[in-house]
This record gives sequence, structure tokens and C-alpha cells, in this order.
Amino acid sequence: MAKLFQPTQAGDIALKNHIVMAPLTRNRSPGAIPNDMNVEYYRQRATAGLIITEATAITHQGQGYANVPGLYSKEALDGWKRVTDAVHAEGGKIVVQMWHVGRISHTALQPNGGKPVSSTNRIAKAKTYLVNADGTGGFTDTSEPRALETSEIPGIVEDYRKAARAAIDAGFDGVEIHGANGYLLDQFMRDGVNDRTDEYGGPIENRARLTFEVVEAVTREIGARRTAIRISPVTPSGESYDSNPQAIFTHVVEGLARYDLAYIHVVEGQTGGERDYRQGDNPSFDYKALRAAYEKAGGKAAWMVNNGYNRDMALEAVETGAADLVAFGKPFIANPDLVERLEKNLPLNTPDQSTFYGGTAKGYIDYPLLEKVA
Ligand SMILES: Cc1cc2nc3c(=O)[nH]c(=O)nc-3n(C[C@H](O)[C@H](O)[C@H](O)COP(=O)(O)O)c2cc1C
Repeated sequence: MAKLFQPTQAGDIALKNHIVMAPLTRNRSPGAIPNDMNVEYYRQRATAGLIITEATAITHQGQGYANVPGLYSKEALDGWKRVTDAVHAEGGKIVVQMWHVGRISHTALQPNGGKPVSSTNRIAKAKTYLVNADGTGGFTDTSEPRALETSEIPGIVEDYRKAARAAIDAGFDGVEIHGANGYLLDQFMRDGVNDRTDEYGGPIENRARLTFEVVEAVTREIGARRTAIRISPVTPSGESYDSNPQAIFTHVVEGLARYDLAYIHVVEGQTGGERDYRQGDNPSFDYKALRAAYEKAGGKAAWMVNNGYNRDMALEAVETGAADLVAFGKPFIANPDLVERLEKNLPLNTPDQSTFYGGTAKGYIDYPLLEKVA
């Protein structure tokens, strides 16, 4: 049997195969509370070696879109407990992606209608999605943020720590810190967004500081072997730009090597787009060199890759050792039994983009399983 389908380990988490369900925001948790439909969705996909939940707000301030779940109210945590119980009952493993959107938000989603917070006062040319009380909704521009005061940053780190504890108490096998796709931690890491003059801005050591402080706090709270992080070195989402992504992300992975993490999750190329995407005039990002830098610095975590992988690419990546784990996004939306289909080399259902974000059971929990396809 190909290595892709054999059991493996990510830190303390034992996986039944090397196939991971990537984090996928589906905007189907009104009130930020996971509900019955969400329980069923994750239960259906429990044959993945590991499920990473959709991005989940660590605090009300970390919310940036309508109907995404949170990790901060009792009701939400009770909802997540039902999800983790359902996945475990099927023999699956599940970690939660811990999210603070930073400036990719709207005053309508913020506590007391306040400004979203970021590394900067500058607004992102980006959209978010709002739903009105009558259920109608639509895309709207993000609001102007305010730069966090230096004195507020320990509070943000504390929010991540608390959320990690709450996640473990809700039955998750671990947490994935969302350091990708132009959200808060990425807004600090990149020099095209971060215009601070305190110890969190300027040189790469300063821009990576918040990410390291979060990793430190979370690993102390729940253990490094249940902690993971996702990065997307060249993804331009939310107007995130860096003049030298190779330099900042090499520094980041070298710093992460100090911790005995469960896995490092790298989106190769533009998330959901070109795999060889370049930021500005930068040369192609060298992901091999990134991993080599991590290992040279003593890093031993499983290396998870994502973005546009198909069966052949995944088989080869794991067989050759180029990756330890492969995360699939869109294929898991449309194929709850993706692992079996890949193993038997059978055709895949096509995802319906019109039902990705928000809506009902349609395009969420009604994709057919193999026996119904035949
Ligand atoms: C509907 C949808 C929602 C997504 N939500 C998230 C998310 O919550 N967190 C995240 O890090 N990436 C998110 N992504 C990106 C995916 O995790 C993944 O990186 C992307 O789909 C590329 O992988 P694929 O080619 O296997 O689909 C989302 C992508 C899609 C299509």
C-alpha cells in the first residue's frame, strides 16, 4: 500500500493516513455556534487522517465574516464538543484552526461596533461578508482598522492561550494557529502591511515576534506536540505583501524549530490559485529551501503541504518524503469519502462553488458517497 494511505504521526496525534482535510470556512454557524449540520459535515469526513476545522475566531474581536464559528462562548464550545465527539466516534482526529482576522473585518462584526485591530491603521482593499437580521447578505468593504497599542499585545497573546485551552477542553486533538492568508499574524509578519515603529515592527525579528509569542503561549498551555501552525508565504489575500517572503518565512520556520510542534502547514503558492505565484519582483519561492532551513535549525515536526494537490502529486510527495502530510481543500468539500476514492483511484465529485460560503445543507452535507455514485 502506498505510504499516503498508511498510518503516521504528527506530534502526539496518531493519524490513520497521511491525508488531511484543509481548513475550509463554510459560514454555516449562525451566532458563531457549531450546530447539528456542522456536526454531520465533520462526521462525514472523519476518514481523513486529520481534519483541520474551518477558521474559528478566538474572540469576538477576532471575527471577520458572518456565521463563522467561535471558540469563546460556552454555547460555541458545547457545539464543538459535539463535533469532536462525533469525529472521534468514527475513529477520526480533529484540530481547530485558531483565527484572529485582524483588519479583515467590519465594525458590524466587532464588539460594540468598534474598529477592527491590526498591525497598522491602513485599511485593506478587501471584502468581507455580512448578513442582515432578515437573513439577506452580501459582500462589503472591510472597515478601517486601528493599530494595536504595544500595551495591548499581551492581551492578544493571552486570547490565543485561552482559546487553546478551551479547544482542548472541547475535545480537540490539538490546534492549528492560523498564520496564513493575510490575517492578524500575517499582518504583523509582512512589511507591506506592518508599518509599526515599536518592537513589533521593522526588522524581520520584530515582525515575527507576535507569532512567536503566540506559539510560546499556546505550547506552554497545551504542549507543543498538540500545537501546529499554518503559513502561506506568498499569498496576497487581504493585500498582504512582503518585499522578501523567503527571508521572513525562513526566520519564522527557524524560530519554530525551537518547539517540538505537531506539524508545520505550508500553503505553496497563492492559496486556491497559482502554485508558482510570485509576490512583486521576487523570484519563485523556494519551498525546499524553507524546509531545509527548518530541519537545519533542528525542526522535527511533520511537514504538511497544500494547494492544488491531486492524487498523483500527493502520492509522490509522501513517497519521496517531500512532504509528510498532504492537505486537500476543495476535494474534501465535494467528497466526504475522499480517502477511499484516492485509495481506489476512483472519480471525484465536482465541488459546487456557489454553495461554498453560507447557505443550507445543499452543497454541504449532501455530496454523494461512492456507493451512491455507481
Ligand atoms: C470555501 C473555502 C474556504 C476556505 N477557508 C479557509 C480557512 O478557513 N482557513 C484557511 O487557512 N484556508 C481556507 N481556505 C483555503 C484552503 O484551506 C486551501 O488552502 C485551498 O482551498 C487550496 O487547497 P485545494 O487546492 O486542495 O483546495 C479555504 C478555501 C475554500 C475554497
